[in-house]
Amino acid sequence: MLNFEFQAPTKVIFGRNTIQKVKDEIPKDKKILMTYGSGSIRKNGVYKKVMEALKDHTVLEFAGIEPNPKFETLMKAVEIVKNENIDFLLAVGGGSTLDGTKFIAAASKFEGDPWDILTKGAEIKDAIPLGDIITLPATGSEMNPGAVISRLSTDEKFAFMSPLVYPRFSIIDPETTYSLPEKQTVNGIVDTFVHTMEQYATYDANTPLQDEWMLGLIKTLMVEAKKVLKNPNDYEARANVFWCATCGLNYWMSLGCVQDWSTHMIGHELTALYGIDHGESLAIVLPRVWKNRKNEKMRKLAKMAVEVFGANEFLPKNILADITIKKTKKFFESIGRRTKLADYGIDKEDAAKKISQRFKKRGTVLGERQTITPDEVYEILMHC
Ligand code: NZQ
Ligand code: ZN
Repeated sequence: MLNFEFQAPTKVIFGRNTIQKVKDEIPKDKKILMTYGSGSIRKNGVYKKVMEALKDHTVLEFAGIEPNPKFETLMKAVEIVKNENIDFLLAVGGGSTLDGTKFIAAASKFEGDPWDILTKGAEIKDAIPLGDIITLPATGSEMNPGAVISRLSTDEKFAFMSPLVYPRFSIIDPETTYSLPEKQTVNGIVDTFVHTMEQYATYDANTPLQDEWMLGLIKTLMVEAKKVLKNPNDYEARANVFWCATCGLNYWMSLGCVQDWSTHMIGHELTALYGIDHGESLAIVLPRVWKNRKNEKMRKLAKMAVEVFGANEFLPKNILADITIKKTKKFFESIGRRTKLADYGIDKEDAAKKISQRFKKRGTVLGERQTITPDEVYEILMHC
């Protein structure tokens, strides 16, 4: 097991009728900027509940944070934060709204060009405190210190992390997810699956407890996903899927494990260049990354075939690993997520060329051993 340190400062408030509790989590003397997306919270009643709860607070609003939140939009919010002396940010919506708000929190206190936070890993020394009411189970952003931001002018997408942008609190009311379009529910299921796999399916560092947690999450997710898709108003299933998503990327399960993240890195480029959803990009890339890297991931993929997919443990590891790759793809397809670039109208040669060139220029290498070169990324995408 690798050495690790862990501190998760976010207070999680989970369950039905919890939105009203937001009033107790933000001191009355704070001037709040409430951030949200393009209006889903107005349609599903979440906006009204938040406003009612905060009727004795001072609340300004910033709407229009788009999916895959854009630097250009977020910088407009930074202006408001500075001009209005905002001292608390409240994100209400999906992972994009929350990620965007984390960036606003850091950029508002940053001296210099905030884009450097994303491209140069510039140090974040201070940030406006933030909390959230998360309405989409997918990113785990509600309990992690990360955010992913895109730039319209350059078609780029980068992540940053800082302990200073951990949400102070996250309110998770599974009932808010009843209104999700099926496509977004599926995206969230795929994202949760792949987060868990980026942390699990690597080389074995002797982490049996963590491995069992991660495989347990996958088993739970696969069962509950089917229930949610069959009956979107099944509260228990919605609650279980949400908790899977939160735990899928709060990094608790993978402490001391070796992590991969190459599927995400390639997927982010596909989103940046072709505008497909995050969950769509992952379903395309993961199976092929596994195929290319089967040898080094063999033990973990084989264990998963037995524990998750019920395969015979006496089969050769090589065959077991193939079973996991095949069954994972089948699972994505069974919940309605297609797994080929062509399914989304993307020319694989164009993608392979553009993305491998970008990685070459940036000197990017990927994978748990940092041995996936831009040339291999080219090959991976040519098979997607
Ligand atoms: O814009 P609004 O009106 O809010 O509508 C959103 C959006 O159109 C809608 N939506 C959200 N909750 C809803 C709802 N519609 C009806 N009912 C609800 N309850 O869903 C659409 C997608 O929302 P978005 O926030 O973009 O989705 P998601 O939560 O999947 O976030 C995706 C973003 O998170 C990043 C991705 O790269 C992408 O930019 N990620 C963030 C991570 C992190 N912070 O740790 C890790 C992930 O790997 C991921 O990269
Ligand atoms: Zn993800």
